[in-house]
Amino acid sequence: MAELVLALDVPRATEAFALLDRLPALRWVKVGPILMTREGPTVVRDLIDRGLKVFLDLKWHDIPNTVSGAVTAARELGVGMATVHALGGGRMLEAAAAAAGEDLALVGVTVLTSHDPSSYAQTLGRSGVDLNAEVARLAGMAMDAGLRGVVCSPGEVSLLRKRLGTSPYIVVPGIRRGADALGDQVRVASAEDATRNGATHLVIGRPLLQAADPGALLEDLMKESRCAAP
Ligand code: C5P
Repeated sequence: MAELVLALDVPRATEAFALLDRLPALRWVKVGPILMTREGPTVVRDLIDRGLKVFLDLKWHDIPNTVSGAVTAARELGVGMATVHALGGGRMLEAAAAAAGEDLALVGVTVLTSHDPSSYAQTLGRSGVDLNAEVARLAGMAMDAGLRGVVCSPGEVSLLRKRLGTSPYIVVPGIRRGADALGDQVRVASAEDATRNGATHLVIGRPLLQAADPGALLEDLMKESRCAAP
């Protein structure tokens, strides 16, 4: 079974809370740069006060001292999970893991789900790249540095579960059903497939944010994510 995490990619806290009123079964929400930049830490405190677990997804990628300070601030705010970019390097990841302590589950972003092999190769200035190998390499770095888990696309979940063993978190955005618009996501899968392959947390934004009946969709997704991992 995987946890469902609603990505609150909306411009205002009022909009987020109106949607949450319709989703009483939800336990996890993700606050990213859109809501955090507009509303600041108050929105995180208000979500925690409502009994929700907050995943702060600001994907820090900076020098070790700066990232360590940001992780400390997130831990003190009561955040349950947060992201750093594995590409920040071993020293940055180790400093981040040390600052997170036991209370904050820090997960390392491998390759963004909006990349395909050619866009990632272009970003790195290479002529070609094996995306699976790159995701596995970055995930290994994150785990070696002491992080709680990793973020990857649905396409790499089963590979990472085999490589990393049973305990690391594998957080998976890019969840779509057949009829859903992809938006800017490239490497996508259903909640059921991602869960079966070993995801522990499924991040879902636009399909729920744009649903005519978000409560009914959440119920369907919860059923799908209850299937057993292999
Ligand atoms: O709207 P959608 O379901 O595509 O939202 C996915 C969420 O997951 C967004 O908030 C996005 O920032 C986040 N995310 C991602 N790819 C990653 C890490 C996080 O799409 N590798």
